[in-house]
Amino acid sequence: MVLRTRRGTVEREEIQMSVLVAYASKHGATMEIAERIAENLREAGQDADARPVQAADDLGDYKGFVVGSAAYMGRWLKDAAAFVRENQDLLTQRPVWLFSSGPLGTEMTDAKGVDLHTAAEPRELAEFRAAIHPREHRVFFGVLDPDRLSFTERSLRKLPAARAILPEGDFRDWNEIQEWAYGIAKELAQTQARHEEQNSR
Ligand SMILES: Cc1cc2nc3c(=O)[nH]c(=O)nc-3n(C[C@H](O)[C@H](O)[C@H](O)COP(=O)(O)O)c2cc1C
Repeated sequence: MVLRTRRGTVEREEIQMSVLVAYASKHGATMEIAERIAENLREAGQDADARPVQAADDLGDYKGFVVGSAAYMGRWLKDAAAFVRENQDLLTQRPVWLFSSGPLGTEMTDAKGVDLHTAAEPRELAEFRAAIHPREHRVFFGVLDPDRLSFTERSLRKLPAARAILPEGDFRDWNEIQEWAYGIAKELAQTQARHEEQNSR
């Protein structure tokens, strides 16, 4: 990064900028995934913070973004979708990875045999791909804890059609999440190395 000093001379200085893991979570499962991703990024040498989308500010200070939301009724939570739309201009200029915390159960495919990592992709994804060109979108299995559900969610779960797709349990695959985060850290390091090489020419 090029800095102008008080004496007016221009110096090059490498500043370790952070990665923001911004998330929206209704019952906590996605928050825990986001916090683990930030932790994994730090283990892999990247400075990273996890924050709810509503509390994310000074976005220009971040060199990259991981944005995630819980999926409900085939959609991202409203605040997460609004975060992407409202910050579209900045997000197109930085590397962005998206994730959804969605399907439940131990089956890896839906009734039609389609892998749930694809079948459970929330509806907004086509729009987000066109708008901000994320490097990747990843679906992670989620959590359903009946004690945390609202009255409406509990009633919905009693419907025969919902019972099979809303089983109780914690289906998160922490190894898969860690591998993904380490992959992001590697890509960020490569991007940074390329910038440093260009700056040193
Ligand atoms: C009423 C209800 C509807 C849900 N709808 C979806 C859905 O459409 N797609 C999906 O992948 N997961 C769906 N899920 C699963 C949740 O998204 C999943 O449990 C997630 O991990 C919850 O995240 P949170 O604790 O951060 O809110 C639903 C869960 C409930 C209770």
